[in-house]
Amino acid sequence: MNIGILVSGRGSNMAAILDAIQSGDLNVNVSLVLSNNPQSPALRRAARENIPTKVVNHRDYGKDREAFEAALDAALRSEGVDCVVLAGFMRVLTPFFVRRWKERLINIHPSLLPAFRGLHAQRQALEAGVKLAGCTVHFVDEGTDTGPIIAQSAVPVLDTDSEDTLSARILEEEHKLLPLVLHWLAGGRISIENDRVRIARI
Ligand code: GRF
Repeated sequence: MNIGILVSGRGSNMAAILDAIQSGDLNVNVSLVLSNNPQSPALRRAARENIPTKVVNHRDYGKDREAFEAALDAALRSEGVDCVVLAGFMRVLTPFFVRRWKERLINIHPSLLPAFRGLHAQRQALEAGVKLAGCTVHFVDEGTDTGPIIAQSAVPVLDTDSEDTLSARILEEEHKLLPLVLHWLAGGRISIENDRVRIARI
């Protein structure tokens, strides 16, 4: 399976995927790391490992989201990508892109969806006073942080938590969950029936 990883920032989830490949836990080929942000540190790590990288800067497209997304789509297709992973990609993708990658586009979000969609999910969890937080990997549909849920991992929220400490505890789980879901996908074990994800046992 050829994957394309879309990043905007630090890229620790991308790094977790590359680490899992290197350690033999994950058998996928990273065909492209694509960023809208030329400064993303993720681009440097990918380039160090000779993974093709590309910047498609949204600023170059002004308000023309479709042209921006068409450029993303073209880059992914030209590298033969089968499945797209949003790993901290900070642009909302419109139906134009989402429809083209239907059921081949996944996202990781730092909350137990459907709770706390959107930005600052960890802060939202603290403000709501929940006792469990976590992360979700899901297929992307046309909504924001909606779409069929593939897997989730929960962590406790401690009385002493700040946004930073909670985010760090969730991030540790993200780094395990995302490679695991990719392992299932590459193994052909994930199917969607009536918007519910089934994971075949082996
Ligand atoms: C993660 O918390 C992820 O869940 C969210 O954005 C953050 C990206 O972090 N979508 P990183 O760039 O992978 O370190």
